[in-house]
Amino acid sequence: MAIKTVGVLGCGLMGSGIAQVSAAAGYKTIVREVEQGFLDRGMGRIQKFLTDGVAKGKVTEEAKNTTLGNLSGTTGFEGLKDCDLIVEAIIENVEEKTKAFAALDALVGADAIFCSNTSSLCITELASKTKRPDRFGGLHFFNPVPLMKLVEVIRGLSTSDDTYQKTFAFAQSLGKEPITAPDKPGFIVNRLLVPYLLDAIRSYEHGLGTIEDIDKGMKLGCGYPMGPFTLLDFVGLDTTYYIANIMFEEYREPAYAPPPLLKRMVLAGRTGRKSGQGFYKY
Ligand code: CAA
Repeated sequence: MAIKTVGVLGCGLMGSGIAQVSAAAGYKTIVREVEQGFLDRGMGRIQKFLTDGVAKGKVTEEAKNTTLGNLSGTTGFEGLKDCDLIVEAIIENVEEKTKAFAALDALVGADAIFCSNTSSLCITELASKTKRPDRFGGLHFFNPVPLMKLVEVIRGLSTSDDTYQKTFAFAQSLGKEPITAPDKPGFIVNRLLVPYLLDAIRSYEHGLGTIEDIDKGMKLGCGYPMGPFTLLDFVGLDTTYYIANIMFEEYREPAYAPPPLLKRMVLAGRTGRKSGQGFYKY
């Protein structure tokens, strides 16, 4: 079965990016949000990225129009019934994801593949809650999706070879560079990135240096595009805290334990760029 029509669940930061790159690659793409307001905001984000891209000379007017022409939004599940592949990018909550997949299981064709963009939940567990565990895999994109080249392709215990090959090929068809990651907390990138970010917070708590100097050190000394605190604010402190807790729960290693300051900043609502304050003010 060739993939022609792609569904995306969730039109937040990740979902809108995934829908955009899917539509840009020529797939008829239908993105679903729970409320029209969220959908409008996500579609506006895509529109802005493409318009800015044209202004920067990075996107042609024709590519912008083709992308927007391939894209449509809906607030119901019905509109996704003809999809060959569905990428879920909703809230990181097993129950919510299970509910969404259950609604789709009853609607879409038996051959359709389900993928989750989860950054921390167990693909095998999510697959086990559907009627198609063999046609279920992980496709983990990176923020900002249209700019970041990497996609992690995750095989759950029950993911079939055929599903794995199709999802890998799908990621390539989006112009991404896929890598194969195990179904273990953090996959490959977060397994290495999250302890580094947590260590930066712990080091700061222990007086290693100022936030600005630690950021400057890693940016200019190592050539990273962002220092750890800029990146924490970019990813979201709540997201980092959530992923760290899942990793710590499974591995029980101190490297994954969220430092006290991270918990307190999340409790204070200082979740980073999206809230206007994290380690920096926006
Ligand atoms: N359309 C097309 N191209 C665009 C564009 C647009 N609207 N906006 C920017 N670009 C292009 C720019 O022209 C530029 O291209 P060149 O390199 O060819 O010049 C490139 O994209 C970078 O854009 P900017 O110059 O505007 O911005 P920047 O250089 O400051 O880079 C960034 C921004 C890509 C976000 C960079 O800072 C970066 O890579 N940061 C790290 C991001 C990161 O680590 N993400 C992963 C987070 S972890 C995660 O997502 C997983 C998880 O599970 C938590």
